[in-house]
Amino acid sequence: MIPPGLAVVTGGSTGIGREFCVQLAARGHDLLVAARDGGRLEALATELQGRFGIDVEPFPADLSREDEIERLAGRITTVSSLSLLVNNAGFGTRGTLLEADPERQAQMLRLHSMAPMRLTTVALPLLVGRRGGAVINVSSIASFIYSAGNANYCATKAYLTTFTEGIADELRGTGVQAQALCPGFTITEFQQRKGDSTAGMPGFLWLTAESVVRASLRSLDRGGPTVCIPGLQYRVLVGLIRHLPRSALARIGAWRRSRQGA
Ligand SMILES: NC(=O)c1ccc[n+]([C@@H]2O[C@H](COP(=O)([O-])OP(=O)(O)OC[C@H]3O[C@@H](n4cnc5c(N)ncnc54)[C@H](OP(=O)(O)O)[C@@H]3O)[C@@H](O)[C@H]2O)c1
Repeated sequence: MIPPGLAVVTGGSTGIGREFCVQLAARGHDLLVAARDGGRLEALATELQGRFGIDVEPFPADLSREDEIERLAGRITTVSSLSLLVNNAGFGTRGTLLEADPERQAQMLRLHSMAPMRLTTVALPLLVGRRGGAVINVSSIASFIYSAGNANYCATKAYLTTFTEGIADELRGTGVQAQALCPGFTITEFQQRKGDSTAGMPGFLWLTAESVVRASLRSLDRGGPTVCIPGLQYRVLVGLIRHLPRSALARIGAWRRSRQGA
């Protein structure tokens, strides 16, 4: 169970992060919400304060920048009753590494890997001091595969899943949990921002942000496994992937690209 107190959510302006804010607010948690779009954060704060009577601190920040990561890390160290850190902010890009903007790929590495590592590092002493709470790192089923056109995305998410499994082991006996949340395709702004078509993807593959977040929080409540994969279809898929030769992943990637016009 997550103890009462404040939850920090990155990428809370929309999508899965916003849904975390809604479900955590409904459970009575105060929130500190970071993302770049300050206007959306203010609107979210007004909505959640009105609906649930909790406190929401908007924290506009670009977490692909090291100075901004440090600014949020500094703010977290001053939180008196931290109960949860959700490292969720992320994005995808199209094209191979040869075609990609190198700075955008470096931003992805800082946002998906450096920021969660740094924020987890400052959050853990606070959580361990309270002997409770959790860190949720929003990874992806992409962390189990590699894929042309998503080389850096898959690699940053693989870091995040492995990092989370490692700290979960380190946290044994402290009362603090770590979860790598690994969703599959989820209906948010992610695909549209990335520029992927969703038309060719079979309907059964799509998850909602609401169901992804519910699965994550329910798993934490039950002291569930470190790696949380929402949706039976994706648990079956990941089970198969774990038994396939790595070379077979190239075929899955080619199938995905053919469906998405990537
Ligand atoms: N949707 C999927 O199919 C899917 C599947 C597996 C995993 N995921 C993962 O789930 C997480 C959430 O994605 P989503 O689907 O909810 O996508 P989304 O709807 O595009 O939301 C992404 C969030 O991240 C924030 N963000 C992006 N760049 C940022 C930056 N530089 N600094 C701070 N915040 C930043 C965005 O806010 P601002 O634009 O306001 O900064 C937004 O709040 C990501 O880590 C993604 O990799 C998504």
